Amino acid sequence: MNIVIIGSGYVGLVAGTCFAETGNDVTCVDIDSNKVKKLQSGDPVIYEPGLETLLKKNIKAGRIKFTVSLKDCVPNADVIFTAVGTPTGEDGSADLHHITDAVKAFAPLLDSYTLIVNKCTAPVGTISMVKDLILGLAAKGTEFDVASNPEFLKEGVAVQDFLYPDRVVIGVESSRAEKILKELYEPFVRNGNPIHVMDLRSAELTKYACNSFLAAKISFMNDMAALCEKLGADINSVRHGMSSDPRIGKSFLYSGLGYGGSCFPKDVKAIIRTAAEFGEDLPIVRSAETVNLHQRQRFIDKILKYFKGDVKGKTFAVWGLAFKPQTDDMREAPSIKVIEALCEKGAVIHATDPVAIDNARTAIRADVKYFSDHIECVDNAEALLVLTEWNEYRTFDPKKLKKHFQGRVIFDGRNIWNPSEIRKYGYDYFGVGRL
Ligand SMILES: NC(=O)c1ccc[n+]([C@@H]2O[C@H](COP(=O)([O-])OP(=O)(O)OC[C@H]3O[C@@H](n4cnc5c(N)ncnc54)[C@H](O)[C@@H]3O)[C@@H](O)[C@H]2O)c1
Repeated sequence: MNIVIIGSGYVGLVAGTCFAETGNDVTCVDIDSNKVKKLQSGDPVIYEPGLETLLKKNIKAGRIKFTVSLKDCVPNADVIFTAVGTPTGEDGSADLHHITDAVKAFAPLLDSYTLIVNKCTAPVGTISMVKDLILGLAAKGTEFDVASNPEFLKEGVAVQDFLYPDRVVIGVESSRAEKILKELYEPFVRNGNPIHVMDLRSAELTKYACNSFLAAKISFMNDMAALCEKLGADINSVRHGMSSDPRIGKSFLYSGLGYGGSCFPKDVKAIIRTAAEFGEDLPIVRSAETVNLHQRQRFIDKILKYFKGDVKGKTFAVWGLAFKPQTDDMREAPSIKVIEALCEKGAVIHATDPVAIDNARTAIRADVKYFSDHIECVDNAEALLVLTEWNEYRTFDPKKLKKHFQGRVIFDGRNIWNPSEIRKYGYDYFGVGRL
């Protein structure tokens, strides 16, 4: 199939590369000409395990191209996916201007029958709005269908998730659209995982329901972690005890610094806003957001309490900046708030991350000294903070650390270490939900 993907970010680029991998002819369009140039040369621009190899392979095979020009590819497209950003607008709702800009640009170029698929996370009704826009802008009689196909990939394992999805959700209003999307996704679900076909509005809502449910799961565990600290219980033990129950499950039960990233914070806000517009309150989702905001502050308060409120001139080593491991994405990363709060009080921050330093330089509005080596990063520091659970930090090497680290305290915002082990080496240790 001839596929056009508009927006070459974390979703568009991964989707485009994986559709090319299954033998389609893919053109990825982006308005950022610098990004397009890099993509044309095989540089994926973002860090996503496995992506570069797959991208280069498909460029070489001539199955994927990158361009800024819609008119070169839209007229021949069988399917057009929109995969542009849907950030939070001023009032908390999803800002859809990237989608409308894209649709306004490609609609007049539509030629023969085309299926227009929205892959962005966008409120219920977005794809109907897109359909109305196209009807107003495309040449009279242009044949097209619209569909919603929310994306469920996780950054850090995005390629794997796209190639082997748990499920594919498609919202359609015609059997022609259903047939095309099933054909496109069939190679990814040969293991028997389902393609759920539903109406447009249910597909759009499914994505928000998933993200707000997962956000609530994280916030629930962070609530329990706060209680553990008061009661002298250990959240890790509680988690193990809970997760053996198949009704609860094992994933997303980790307490830490709260959820971040480009999706949960904005999607939780957007669904609350949508509900309010329709007179619904969604108290559980609202609480998930409140708990999440408190969670970062709790961690900051713990640090300030230890230093009796005086962190001025003290050096803090920060291990991990990205909102989670295996990604360079700094959007809504908890590290931003923690670092900015400490800097505001006069702290000196030395920080490291295996891949997110470049993005951190623009995301964090504070004077931070960055280190590529996490051991060097602790030189002269009075405290060590773990803010992202990268695997390379997990093995605690007291000998190596002692040589560089003069401080006595460790704040482990991701519970990667065992408190009693760390204390054996003479450190004060603070995790989340553990004494
Ligand atoms: N990142 C994720 O993990 C993830 C997962 C599932 C769903 N989503 C959703 O997918 C959508 C895209 O997210 P993302 O993280 O890939 O965003 P992104 O910011 O990484 O990428 C968006 C890209 O779209 C380009 N763009 C913007 N306007 C354009 C236009 N008019 N024409 C062409 N290109 C344009 C931008 O230059 C950018 O490269 C969002 O709605 C998001 O909520 C994201």
